[in-house]
Amino acid sequence: MAKYDFGKDFFWGTSAASFQIEGAWNEDGKGESIWDRFCHIPGKVDNGDTGDVACDHYHRYPEDIAIMKQLGIQVQRLSISWPRIYPDGKGRINPKGIEFYEKVIDTMLENGIEPFVVLYHWDLPQKLQDLGGWLNPEIVNWFGDFSRTVFQALKGKVKYWGTVLEPHVICYGGYDSYDTAPGIKDFSSALLAGHNLLKAHGRAVQIFREENTGGEIGLITCLPMTYPVTDSPEDVAAAERNDKHYRAWFLDPIFKGKYPADLWKWYEEHGIVLPEVTEEDLKLISEPIDFLGTNYYSADFVKAGDKSWPLMLEQVKPDVDVFTDMGWNVYPKGFYDTLMRTKEEYDPKMVITENGAAFYDVVNRDGRIADDSRIEYLYRHLKEVYRAKQDGAKIAGYMVWSIMDNFEWSHGYSKRFGLVHIDYKTLKRTIKDSGYWYSNVIKNNGFED
Ligand code: FCB
Repeated sequence: MAKYDFGKDFFWGTSAASFQIEGAWNEDGKGESIWDRFCHIPGKVDNGDTGDVACDHYHRYPEDIAIMKQLGIQVQRLSISWPRIYPDGKGRINPKGIEFYEKVIDTMLENGIEPFVVLYHWDLPQKLQDLGGWLNPEIVNWFGDFSRTVFQALKGKVKYWGTVLEPHVICYGGYDSYDTAPGIKDFSSALLAGHNLLKAHGRAVQIFREENTGGEIGLITCLPMTYPVTDSPEDVAAAERNDKHYRAWFLDPIFKGKYPADLWKWYEEHGIVLPEVTEEDLKLISEPIDFLGTNYYSADFVKAGDKSWPLMLEQVKPDVDVFTDMGWNVYPKGFYDTLMRTKEEYDPKMVITENGAAFYDVVNRDGRIADDSRIEYLYRHLKEVYRAKQDGAKIAGYMVWSIMDNFEWSHGYSKRFGLVHIDYKTLKRTIKDSGYWYSNVIKNNGFED
């Protein structure tokens, strides 16, 4: 038995997302997504990269699934491209879109791999963005219809379902500060988008049950742990605001049926227009879920300040030994702390739906990719997952981001997170050392020191 043994019910997987790997952006009747639009605007994505071809998973999925099987991947997370199914976002269904996901999922099942299906990983149909996107409350129904179609098409084949992925990127990223599609900059809009997103999530959960879809459903959040850089009351309060901004703002409504009152008040005091929230909304949002998907990459270190309005704090670069190619600090203890914080606040069943690192990969002359830094990252983080599990966090499984290098949003193809290397000129796939390492972890259901 391995020293760090994760127990017989634990599952091991890898993750990916439609836009980041599929390509075939305008094939077989697919409509345009906000990311298609965004990356075709010069200057939005590094090197002018687009998702037009990406890893060409749309055509090469049999090869990719064969690699997953070779590595012993038990669960593979994928997302459904909404505009492949509904080219206009609503109304007319594109049968070829459904067919594609049926084929992918059947191929996974034939190879003994459980599909984990996420309904929304950021590629909103552009036609819906033209109607206001997540700012239009009608999106609750549009997302509901899309979810129902997907549930009906794939029911009985999928054990794990995710509704929306990383609300904070969708709202704060897309509607406020980050360089994420659709690229709007207005904090009040971000909170309105967030509220509609939570309602859409709740509606999908209701429909999941109405349709007797089977399996389990949850949503996926990214929860960095936040630390104050000093123990002054101002810095401690700033860290608390940052944490609530990511965690409680989305999870309190789901698990407690209300928004966090203190952060709500803070926003009011800082002139933010808050969404109108009814009892009915909160009831919809707090529809019970079966698990919480948790992504973790790095920690936040903050002090009070005025750089980040309206949270009134500043991010501080910590004194850690490693930063990844994204510039993200490597702070494994933050993983343990965030899992335990979520446990203390909500105690849900959790699935680690993403964890991984971008490092500059060198392809040796013999074709081997000796990505020791990535192995080290995964090893150090898995130890923290193990520790949290030992300390009572209900963690059902772990998934590496990502099975393969892919389109890393505004960074294009310049950042590599994969266990499998993609040569973007030839689209050749090569398993990295980290892929072989992870394969052994799966085989042993854990690892030694
Ligand atoms: C997460 C996203 C995923 C990928 C990783 C690095 O926030 O869900 O698509 O970009 O970051």
